[in-house]
Amino acid sequence: MEFNTHSTRALQQLKASALFIGVYTDNELTAAADIINRASNDGITAILKSEFKATAGNTLILRNLEGVRAERVILVGLGKKEDYNANTLLKAHAAIAAYCTERSLKEATCAIIEEPCQDLDIQLRARLAARALGNALYKYDGTFSKENRPTQSSLQKVTFIIERKDDKAKLGVIQGAAIANGMKTTRQLGNLPPNICTPTYLGEQAKMLAKEFKSIKAEVLEKKQIEALNMGSFLSVAAGSDQPPRFIVLKYTAANNRKKDEGPIVLVGKGVTFDTGGISLKPGAGMDEMKFDMCGAASVFGTLRAIAEMGLERDVIGVIPATENMPNGHATKPGDVVTSMSGQTIEVLNTDAEGRLILCDALTYAERFKPSAVVDIATLTGACIVALGHVNSGLYASDDNLANDLLAASKRAQDPAWRMPLDDAYQDQLKSNFADMANIGGMPAGSVTAACFLSRFTKAYRWAHLDIAGTAWTQGKEKGASGRPVPLLTEYLLAQQDS
Ligand code: BES
Ligand code: MN
Ligand code: ZN
Repeated sequence: MEFNTHSTRALQQLKASALFIGVYTDNELTAAADIINRASNDGITAILKSEFKATAGNTLILRNLEGVRAERVILVGLGKKEDYNANTLLKAHAAIAAYCTERSLKEATCAIIEEPCQDLDIQLRARLAARALGNALYKYDGTFSKENRPTQSSLQKVTFIIERKDDKAKLGVIQGAAIANGMKTTRQLGNLPPNICTPTYLGEQAKMLAKEFKSIKAEVLEKKQIEALNMGSFLSVAAGSDQPPRFIVLKYTAANNRKKDEGPIVLVGKGVTFDTGGISLKPGAGMDEMKFDMCGAASVFGTLRAIAEMGLERDVIGVIPATENMPNGHATKPGDVVTSMSGQTIEVLNTDAEGRLILCDALTYAERFKPSAVVDIATLTGACIVALGHVNSGLYASDDNLANDLLAASKRAQDPAWRMPLDDAYQDQLKSNFADMANIGGMPAGSVTAACFLSRFTKAYRWAHLDIAGTAWTQGKEKGASGRPVPLLTEYLLAQQDS
C-alpha cells in the first residue's frame, strides 16, 4: 500500500478515479464539497437535500459530475458539522477503505484531512486518517483452504489532498500509515491460532522484525537462559506445557535519539499464547478466545514496527515473556510456592492468575535498562472487563505524570483508557500465610489487586500498566484482534519524542 499527499486547491481539476469528499448533515458543506459544488452547478447541495443522509461513514457515489474531472466523486458523511470530531474522522476514513474494497478500486483520493476538526492540528488529522484507512484494509486470511480464502483489498494507492505543500501533513500520513501497519501486525499475531502462534513462533517473529528493520535488534532467550536469570515465577507458568518458553527482548535504537540523557522507554507485553488456566482449569465455553492472551505481546510487536517504520527519535525496548499456560504432569499446582527473579516468593493459589506471574519477572528484568518509564500491556483480568467493559482499557500507574501522559495520548489517538486506583489498602488482599505474597486477591477489585501484585516488582522506575482484557479483541460475529492499544502506545511515544 502506498500513501501520498498531493497539494492543490483546484479539486475540480483533479484527474482522480475516485475522489472522496466530506459532507455534513443539515446541508452544511465542507470546503472541499463547496469547491465541487460550485464547479458542478450545485450538484452536491441538490443531492444532500434529497437523496443522501450524511451520517458518519455513509457514502454515495456521483458519476460524471459536470465541471469535475474526477471519474467518480464519493460523498462521505461526517455527521453534524458542530459534532465533527476525531472519532468521525476515523469512521469516515474506515468507510473509504470499505468502499474501495467492496468495489475493487485500486486508487483513492481523499480530500477530508484539510477540514477543521475540533482542535486537532493537520498532522494529527492526517495521522488519524491514514491509520484508520490502512487499518480497515486488514483482513485475516491466514488459515483457510484456497477455495475459501478471503480476498484481500484491491486498494493500492491512497492520496490525501492538502491545500498547499505541508511537511506536517506529509509526516502525519507517514506516521498514520506506520501505525496502521503496526496494528495489522498486532491483529495478525493475535488472530493466528495457538497451534501456530506458539512462544517459539513469537521468538521467530522477533528475529524477522529485526531482519526487516536495522534499527531493531532481537534477543530471544531459551529455557536454559531463563533459568540462569532465576525467573522462577515465569518458569512456573511454563512448567505445565510441552511448548518451550521464550523470553524476547526487542531493542529499537533511534537513528537520532532526541533524549540522550534519558533512559529508554520499556514496553512489557504479556505473551501467553494459550491460557487454559493450568491446573485451575478454565471452563470450556469460549476457551478458544484464550489464544488472544498474547495480545499484550502482540501490541509490543506492533508498536515497535510502527515506530521503526516512522523512524521515532527516541529509544524503546520491548520485553516479552512468552509461554503457554497448560496443565500437564509437570504443571504448577495450587499451593506451590515459587521464587521470582526479584527474590520475592509467591504462593500460587490459582494457576489461572498466570499473567502476573510471567510479568513480574519481566518487570524485574526491565530494571537493567535504567528506563525512564516502563509500561506493561496485558490481557490480565476478567475483572477488568466487569469494571470497564469493551470500551476503555484499564490504566494503572504509580506516577501521576506518566498516567496523565498516557491518558492524553489515549484521547488524541481515540484509543480510550480509564485510570484505575492503586491504593496501598488493596495490597492487604495479597497476603499469604506461606509466602511473601499470594498470586490472587479474592473476588473484590480483581483487576486492581492484579495491578497491585505487579506494582511490587516496579519500585525501581516510573511504571504504568494497561489491562487490555476487554479491548484487545472483539467477540461475536466479527471475532478478531482489534490492534489496540497500538494507537495509544504510539501516540504516547510520539509525545515523548516531541516533549
Ligand atoms: N487471561 C486471563 C484474563 C482474561 C479472562 C482476559 C477473560 C480476557 C478474558 C487471565 O490469565 C486470568 O485467567 N485471570 C483470572 C484471574 C483470577 C484467577 C484471579 C480471571 O480474570 O479470572
Ligand atoms: Mn489465566
Ligand atoms: Zn491469562
